[in-house]
Amino acid sequence: MQHDLFNRTIEFMPGPKVVNVASVPKRSPFRYPGGKTWFVPNFRKWINSQKAKPQLLVEPFVGGGIISLTAAFEDLTDKVLMVELDEQIAAVWQSIIDGNAKWLADKIIKFQLTKENLFAELDVKKSDIKHIAFQTILKNRTFHGGILANGAGISKNGENGKGIHSRWYPKTLARRIELIDYVLDKIEFKCADGLEVIKDYSNNKNAIFFIDPPYTAGGKKAGKRLYKYCDLDHDKLFKLCKKVKGDFIMTYDNAEEVKDLAKQSGFEFKEVSMKNTHNSEMTELVIGRNLSWMDY
Ligand SMILES: C[S@@+](CC[C@H](N)C(=O)[O-])C[C@H]1O[C@@H](n2cnc3c(N)ncnc32)[C@H](O)[C@@H]1O
Repeated sequence: MQHDLFNRTIEFMPGPKVVNVASVPKRSPFRYPGGKTWFVPNFRKWINSQKAKPQLLVEPFVGGGIISLTAAFEDLTDKVLMVELDEQIAAVWQSIIDGNAKWLADKIIKFQLTKENLFAELDVKKSDIKHIAFQTILKNRTFHGGILANGAGISKNGENGKGIHSRWYPKTLARRIELIDYVLDKIEFKCADGLEVIKDYSNNKNAIFFIDPPYTAGGKKAGKRLYKYCDLDHDKLFKLCKKVKGDFIMTYDNAEEVKDLAKQSGFEFKEVSMKNTHNSEMTELVIGRNLSWMDY
């Protein structure tokens, strides 16, 4: 058995090139478009390649948060800073951080999901953050593809013809939310612009960055339909990454424009295989200063 610098067992991932996501603990209450559950084994490897246990993981585009939650639950870094600009997603993370995990879990358990109840619940404009959080979870779990961007709507057939029920697992969701309570002391959340936060922490050599921006730089421009906030200055992001003192990795669409940006910045990039939600194999890019940890 091999151990890393912090005396933790190292899991090598020989075998299949494409990670079996069923083997990765699901910790997020979201089903997130562009979610990075499949990247978790690579993320662990990257952390293990650091010279010492990182003090802080900054995730400036946190979305459903599987990477940050994995870091917190598996004690991969001392602290985690999660950042998200979308107010609806932010309401969920902020409510949990504020100590409302139990309230949210109870609401989920008690809610009787029918189309009538769903529309009635979503029709009421809430101003209280924990109620917005509940509405967000409801939408994320019943809307087509988990998409919350403007124009999104309920899943007509859902999976297995189960419609709005196909992704509504109240007990599991409640449990995931309640479990986050156990690692709250490690997590901080900011509803902010990820680019600004990268800038704020760029001089901190003990901070590492996992950066998974909305994909609008090239290729299919999928980010436009998936996220409310999708317009990002990718040039600026790459320039900011050049300046960070700590380590970083980015995951991106496998697009020529992105590779060009990486080359211009003097970064390495590698393709990784993943399976998308339709179970077809595709590749994404991992970008960083040094990706030799991916070879092992
Ligand atoms: C590719 S998704 C991240 C998915 C995440 N890695 C996961 O596993 O769920 C990109 C996220 O960035 C958010 N976003 C877009 N622009 C942002 C900005 N300027 N600052 C912070 N978050 C932003 C989007 O709302 C979206 O949640």
